[in-house]
Amino acid sequence: MPNKDVVMVILAAGKGTRLKSSLAKVLHPAGGRPLVEHVVRCCLPLKPKRIVAVVGHQAEQVTAVVEPFEAQSVLQQPQHGTGHAMLVAKRALGNAKIAIVLPGDAPLIRTETLKSMLATHRSGNAAATILSAVLADPSGYGRIVRKSETQVGAIVEESQLAPEQRELNEINSSIYCFTLAKLWPALAKVKPNNKHREIYLTDAIAVLASSGETVLAQIASDSREVLGCNTRADVAEVDRIFRERKRQELMAAGVTIQLPETVLIDPEVSVGEDCTLEPGVQLLGNTKLGTRCTIQTGSVLYNSLLGDDVLVKAHSLIEESRLDAKTIVGPFVRLRVGTHLKAGARVGNFVETKKAVIGEGSKVPHLSYIGDAKLGSKTNIGAGTITCNYDGVNKHQTTIGNRVFVGSDSVLVAPVRIGDGAYIAAGSAITENVPAESLGIARGKQVNKKGWAAKKRREIAAASHGKSPRKKSKKRR
Ligand code: UD1
Ligand code: MG
Repeated sequence: MPNKDVVMVILAAGKGTRLKSSLAKVLHPAGGRPLVEHVVRCCLPLKPKRIVAVVGHQAEQVTAVVEPFEAQSVLQQPQHGTGHAMLVAKRALGNAKIAIVLPGDAPLIRTETLKSMLATHRSGNAAATILSAVLADPSGYGRIVRKSETQVGAIVEESQLAPEQRELNEINSSIYCFTLAKLWPALAKVKPNNKHREIYLTDAIAVLASSGETVLAQIASDSREVLGCNTRADVAEVDRIFRERKRQELMAAGVTIQLPETVLIDPEVSVGEDCTLEPGVQLLGNTKLGTRCTIQTGSVLYNSLLGDDVLVKAHSLIEESRLDAKTIVGPFVRLRVGTHLKAGARVGNFVETKKAVIGEGSKVPHLSYIGDAKLGSKTNIGAGTITCNYDGVNKHQTTIGNRVFVGSDSVLVAPVRIGDGAYIAAGSAITENVPAESLGIARGKQVNKKGWAAKKRREIAAASHGKSPRKKSKKRR
């Protein structure tokens, strides 16, 4: 159901001084996205009339994050507090009846909670409804001062708490519903009566309450949803919760995760049934796994697409690559951008690939660099083979056919083509094309000198007998 009388306002102009960072607070990532992106995504299912983001610090970058979600940015420059931020946004809110206000630094909020708060606000005919939470440790947050069981009298910021208010543990999440016709006159009365000389949105609550308006507070059923990020420790805690949510979601969908708290999975990642993720695995960006894949310990996958029954052995780094069904890679493999392993292909330990197609059932088992290369099917690349793709200026292509056998320690100097069924002798430096079914051999011819070693040893022994005693004693010292 759309909410055409509702606008949503995300307050995202602050610097976040307590983070001690050159990056604006709402751009700090947690759970694989900038904080403010989580907030704007959470707004979308409510289908409001408009989403407005108040931006200030690093306004362009913050706008770039919210714009794809059709949020409109309003510039607050300089920033004189959360109440001032609302006043700056006033014109952009048009004639909407209700505003849902969210801070850009509390990204764990769920749409369902917002819907429930909005329903409470509407049914209670309130001027303001605050989403609150009861915390064991409320430090750092503004506290809710109730004037009755159902009604709020004020929000008091921590720095302004009277001694008897220090016990209060119901906190302000900074997420509110306001009936705008009531908010604007109240906000006009708020003075910057605090040490930062800011206009606090929280002070509008006391103004509303004292003029007899209904101010409600709805306690969040899960207090973790309202955690704000004011310090790096807060960001880490929020990140931990996002990661846990994602793992729980995948485990519920049939994924085995060993030592789950060590496994990091970005929000867009999908993992098929009966996959196993071992400890210390990271699945990042747009990575998608088919069914029954195993990702062994310490492997990191970024923006990669895996078919069914793929095995990634320990400590492999796979970026922007595609691994078709039943491929096996690792341990200690680095697959770089544009690698495509076709069904049943294998890439073994200490191999690096880039822009490389490894055909069906082909193997690159050990210690190789395969870059800008296309390999056919059932080809075997011996240990230590290198495609020399770079001549110092340009990159060139290596093309290897089907059923080719490249002997160990060969270098293939691109551009070069190896035909189907060809053999390359071990240790070759191949600079010319090798036709199909041929042997390419490009190395010095071996010469065995009979008796050379024994003769050499005799020479060495004779030379050492002739050495002066003085020299010998020097050596002993
Ligand atoms: C605020 C509330 C506090 C509440 C807490 C919940 C006020 C005065 N205090 O405190 O009661 O418990 O959130 O997390 O509102 N912002 C602007 N423009 C400004 C100032 C801030 O857009 O001029 C934005 C910030 O970027 C941030 C949000 O508003 O996203 C909240 O500001 P912040 O400084 O984090 O307020 P808190 O001290 O956390
Ligand atoms: Mg905050």
